[in-house]
Amino acid sequence: MTAGIRLSSREIASRIEELARQISRDYEGRSPIMVGVLRGSVIFLADLARHLTVPARFDFMSISSYGAGGSGVVRILKDLDASIAGEDVILVEDIIDTGLTATYLTTNLRGRAPRSLEICALLDKSVRRIVEVPIRYRGFEIPDEFVIGYGLDHQGRYRNLPQIVGVPDIATLNADPSPFDALYGAA
Ligand code: IMP
Ligand code: MG
Repeated sequence: MTAGIRLSSREIASRIEELARQISRDYEGRSPIMVGVLRGSVIFLADLARHLTVPARFDFMSISSYGAGGSGVVRILKDLDASIAGEDVILVEDIIDTGLTATYLTTNLRGRAPRSLEICALLDKSVRRIVEVPIRYRGFEIPDEFVIGYGLDHQGRYRNLPQIVGVPDIATLNADPSPFDALYGAA
C-alpha cells in the first residue's frame, strides 16, 4: 500500500476550527441552516457544528448520482425536512470533485428562494472541475487522487477513519481492501 496525500486528524481539526470561526463571524446575529449532504458530509458537519458560535440549524439531503462518469444527473432520495425560503443556507459537502453534484444541488436549492446560499466544502479537488463552483468556505485543496476517511468512503467503508488518506492506486483497493483496514488505529 503506497502512501498518497494524508491529512491527520489534528490538521483537519485545526482547519475546521478556522472555518467555524470564519462562518461564525460572517453569520453573526443570524441563524444559518447548515444543509448536510448525506452521507459523506456528516462527520465534517458534526465537527464544524460544535465550533460555531452562532445558533445554527441543521437539515439533510440524501442524493444518488446515476450515470457513472459524472453525468451530473442527481436524484434526491431524501429532501430537506423544512422550507429554506428566506433563510441563510450553507450547503456542506465533503468534497467538490467535478462540481456536478454541487451545481445540481445549488441550482435546486436556489429555486426555493433562500435569502442566501453558500457552499462549505472540506476538500476541493479543483483540478478535476468540469463546472465552476463558488466555494465560499474551503478546508483543503487536494490533488487528483482518490481519498478515503473522515466521511469519504470507498464502497461504503472508511468513513469513520479519523484521518484522510489518499489512495494513489485505486485498483489495489478495489482488488483487496483488507490491507487498508490497518489504517484504523493509525491516526
Ligand atoms: P462531484 O459531483 O464530481 O463533484 O462529486 C462529488 C461526490 O463524489 C462527493 O460528494 C463524493 O461522494 C464523491 N467523491 C469525489 N471524489 C471522491 C474521493 O476522492 N473519495 C471519495 N468520494 C469522492
Ligand atoms: Mg458525497
